[in-house]
Amino acid sequence: MDSIVVTGGRELSGQIHIAGAKNAALTLMPATLLSEEPLTLTNAPRLSDIKTMTLLLQSLGAEVTSMQGGKVLAMSSHGLNGDRADYEIVRKMRASNLVLGPLLARHGQAVVSLPGGCAIGARPMDIHIHALEALGAQIELKEGYLHAVAPSGLKGARVPLRFASVGATENTLMAAALAKGTTIIENAAREPEIVDLATCLRKMGAQIEGDGTSTITIQGVDRLHGATHPVVIDRIELGTYMLAPVIAGGEVECVGGRMDLVTAFAERLAQAGVEVTETPVGLKVRRANGRPHAVDVVTEPFPGFPTDLQAQMMAMLCTAEGTSVLEEKIFENRFMHAPELIRMGADIEVHGGTATVHGVARMKGAPVMATDLRASVSLILAGLAAEGTTQVNRVYHLDRGYEHVEDKLRAVGADIERVPGS
Ligand code: UD1
Repeated sequence: MDSIVVTGGRELSGQIHIAGAKNAALTLMPATLLSEEPLTLTNAPRLSDIKTMTLLLQSLGAEVTSMQGGKVLAMSSHGLNGDRADYEIVRKMRASNLVLGPLLARHGQAVVSLPGGCAIGARPMDIHIHALEALGAQIELKEGYLHAVAPSGLKGARVPLRFASVGATENTLMAAALAKGTTIIENAAREPEIVDLATCLRKMGAQIEGDGTSTITIQGVDRLHGATHPVVIDRIELGTYMLAPVIAGGEVECVGGRMDLVTAFAERLAQAGVEVTETPVGLKVRRANGRPHAVDVVTEPFPGFPTDLQAQMMAMLCTAEGTSVLEEKIFENRFMHAPELIRMGADIEVHGGTATVHGVARMKGAPVMATDLRASVSLILAGLAAEGTTQVNRVYHLDRGYEHVEDKLRAVGADIERVPGS
């Protein structure tokens, strides 16, 4: 497996182009299952998770053609002939469960493997199941697979979610788009990726109101048609690269960056003494003189501080002045980067869902292990300012969520390279 080698100590300067959002693309792709007509996505990110979703859609009989080096995905589900999402694909990526709602809506049945355990927590499917049952589906668990049927079609209903789950909101939204009558999702997730999905579904002819708020109303239609849709930019990739100059020093302009996508995160940066300015093409981040200040962080559903930026924020706070407390409220077991950062000289104590970080003046390079997607990039960020060389091993996860991370960072002056594994 490849590793990434970073030698710390270089200030950064220049522009980084932010890609389309992984998490938006992973829900927009299954939306193609809802229509016989083509759906084309532009601004798609080039990631291994997108390849996994491509394989899954193809296994169901959909056509997916990647064009312009992967930036455009032309999809068509006119010849859909499968309704089974196999364990071999689903186990690689939890977002595979996003075919459940569309398949049920289109075929009246679906068989989808449960994703199984995940490195960052249990991640059950109960909210998805209750929501689809509220729309009239009957769902049974047999031999690790959810067998879902809707013999008389899906019917609009009031669907209160016990927690504002992103995936459950997306599955319900897609299923309800073709259900008979009106669906009201209460306590819906408000993430920008959900707004992006609703925007695309509206282009396909769906009648949806209230996306971006906690109550989404969907008036079901008989059929959806084709559309072309640009994937919203990746606010997690944006936040990650905004942290790079804060950690390494210097100034980076994130092209395509939008403040409304990272408001809570940018507020914490401001508290830490970091300058973030809006420019005509994106967001510019500069570390003013000296070390950033400690800040406390609590992860929450959007518009709160995103759990997907917690590891990267921790990497930054390791060398901030003072003590920071990070509270993880979305996933249990999401501090696996902490022991690796400690190997690099960080001073962190973890108790349950809370991590206390006492800032140190400088970290030291070390061989470290990437344990999940966001953890791997946090170790690369830490390496940018550490003394000496950091070797991040097992970077398989990184390629799931970041396209060409080493090229993007090298282009702004980082000393970073990928070492192919044997
Ligand atoms: C999505 C994102 C992921 C992000 C997460 C939270 C995608 C592809 N992934 O994941 O990057 O970290 O949102 O912002 O968009 N839960 C249940 N039962 C359920 C569903 C979820 O208990 O049926 C729990 C989970 O275990 C977790 C929490 O709810 O603790 C959040 O999960 P959810 O919002 O569903 O995240 P995902 O859609 O899986």
